[in-house]
Order: sequence, then C-alpha cells, then structure tokens
Amino acid sequence: MRIDILTIFPAMFEGPFTESIIKRAIARGYAEIHIHNIRDFAANKHRKVDDYVFGGSAGMVMMVQPIADLIDKLKAERIYDEVIFLTPDGEILSQGIANQLSLHGNIMLLCGHYKGIDERLREHYITREISIGDYVLSGGELAAAVLTDSIIRLIPGVLGDETSALSDSFQDGLLSPPVYTRPSDYKGWKVPDVLLSGNEKEIKDWNYRQALERTRKRRPGLLNG
Ligand code: ADE
Repeated sequence: MRIDILTIFPAMFEGPFTESIIKRAIARGYAEIHIHNIRDFAANKHRKVDDYVFGGSAGMVMMVQPIADLIDKLKAERIYDEVIFLTPDGEILSQGIANQLSLHGNIMLLCGHYKGIDERLREHYITREISIGDYVLSGGELAAAVLTDSIIRLIPGVLGDETSALSDSFQDGLLSPPVYTRPSDYKGWKVPDVLLSGNEKEIKDWNYRQALERTRKRRPGLLNG
C-alpha cells in the first residue's frame, strides 16, 4: 500500500513512522509513505500557500492552485482509491474505517491549516473527509499520522500472531480485557488465578466476560451496535 501525505509542514512526519510496527512495515515493503511539501508547488515567488477569506471573515484559507497542481501531478502518476482530507468536520475515524482503508492500494491524505482549504478543492478532488475526534488540532498533520498508523498496522502480514489485530479493542466491537505479565504476585497484588490455570477454555471465557464487562461499564454505546 502507498500513502501520499500532502502538507505544509513535512518535518512533522519525521518521527511517527520511524519506530516500532510502522517502521517495520515500511522496511518489509508492506507500506510506502511519501511526504509532499505543498509549498514546493506554489506558483508565486514568495511560495505563498494561503490567502484571506472572501467575504471578510478573519483567518486564512489554503489556496487552490498549489494543492490542485500537486494532486494533479500525483493522479497523473497512479490511480488513487481515495483522496482524503483530514478535517474536524469529517466523519469520525473508527476501526471500521481503518479496516476499509487498509484494503486499498493507493491513498492520498491532505492536511489542512488555518481556517481550512478552499471549498473548490473539496468539491473537485476530495473523495472522503475524516476527523480523528471532536476537538480541533492546529492542523491535519497529527490526524494524518494517527490515520496512517491505524491503517498500516491492519495490512495483512504487518502484525505477527502475537500482536494480531484480531484481539485489539474495537476489532470485535468490544474493549480489550485486562492483561498481566510476570511476576504473578507483586507485593501481594495477584494475577487472577484463572490466567495461571492453563485451562484454555476457562481463560477464553474469562477474557470474553472481562471484555464485555469493561465495555458495558466504560463504553455501553458500543454494545448497541
Ligand atoms: N484538523 C484539525 N482538527 C482535526 C481533527 N480533529 N481531525 C482531523 N483533522 C483535523
């Protein structure tokens, strides 16, 4: 899978993909991430990418031309399954959306800034708009990094059996059960006996009941689905 990220702050992506699972997925060829600086496509001598809002309200809007030229260039090179704009007024990211997107070959992620992007870009290029939650970030970069991480770890082969995505919170509509590791007794704080019993069926039942109970207490809305 190939992910192209369009941003005016490329340096914000120097960290998130260079560790752990995403780093390994890239090294093993499951995913490619390409970062593009929108400013490089500005057709004016000051490399300006934003301008005042028509109609007088305060703030700046990202201009059509640099982003349109960059998207056109990328679309001439390959076919994209989705051109996604990260925005607080998009559909809220869920595990279901991450699952869908992980099946694609090529996706583009556009990071917005200031008051947003010129609406004509949304009308003519954007196929999907995603928010990572009901709060406002300074820009779409962190949201794009979150979305990218949630997608890449789901690509078949990226996670080994021991970290299988199938046991993640949300994957089966439930939160994850509590987990423990050695020692089984830390200063009198004991691991539940059943987990040390070796009885696979009882352990599975216990995990399921714990997941159900945790979901009922913390996120009852998930059980109605
Ligand atoms: N840009 C600013 N806030 C955002 C959010 N919550 N989700 C996605 N993109 C954003």
